[in-house]
Amino acid sequence: MIGSGRDVRNIGGVMAIQLNPLYAPNNRQLYDVEMGYERVHQDARRRFRRAGKMDFGDLNSRRVEKFRLFTAKEAAKIRKRMDEGINPVADRSETLALLKKVFMPPLDARLIAFFNSEYVPHAMSYDKIMPNEPFTHSDCWHCDGGPTNHLVMMIYLSGSRKKTANTLFTTGRMTDYLKVAGYVFCHMEQRLADVSPIVNRFQLGQFEEIAFEIKAGEAIVFQSVNILHKRALPTQGPRYTITLALLPSPMPWLKACEKTGKPLRLGMRPTFENIPESELP
Ligand SMILES: [Fe+2]
Repeated sequence: MIGSGRDVRNIGGVMAIQLNPLYAPNNRQLYDVEMGYERVHQDARRRFRRAGKMDFGDLNSRRVEKFRLFTAKEAAKIRKRMDEGINPVADRSETLALLKKVFMPPLDARLIAFFNSEYVPHAMSYDKIMPNEPFTHSDCWHCDGGPTNHLVMMIYLSGSRKKTANTLFTTGRMTDYLKVAGYVFCHMEQRLADVSPIVNRFQLGQFEEIAFEIKAGEAIVFQSVNILHKRALPTQGPRYTITLALLPSPMPWLKACEKTGKPLRLGMRPTFENIPESELP
């Protein structure tokens, strides 16, 4: 039996971790219900008119999928702008022009198939990570806290080897097991770089580590609430990425950006804030 708030100090000799099977339902209750994100999604689904263009694929079934968005030459051009200090808020028209190249088929068809609605780039950052930066909570296995139906897109502007300068995933099934075991959405300081003590303790089966081979200009899109992942730091050269958080939208993304001023800059404040009652549909 896995009880709520169980202390597993002694499993496999790892540090004390407070496992709690209520972490996952609590995340859903907080973002989807109390903060209002499910109401917005419901409204977006009601207004959706492009169902004929939906195309289901790995993003739905495996919760993660790779797409090619830019050529190597285009990626090099964006890297150069990042070296000059581009910012999604200050350089807004340039950013929107770039996003027009991102949200094209087949990616667009996959996004509307996932949301069953239009979508909007809610927040965004341009990131340049230097080799061997200090280890953070992002380098341990986790799911992102946030609305159940949001997506994260990592656009890689420099290539990565399988196990470095990359994002590593496990399967959706293992993620679900670890949610029931009470690990997923644990306190940040308690995240583990190796979850095998928990996997073994609860006999959850083989822990599969999935790493994509990524070329400059390719993107990984994933259901960050529903698939366990961790960052793998680069060991050489800086890693150039664009990170986007996507949410369902009642209108096409460009119109939504014009109306709301999105994308916001990721990391400046909490990514998902309470939606005020006056703005709820
Ligand atoms: Fe994450």
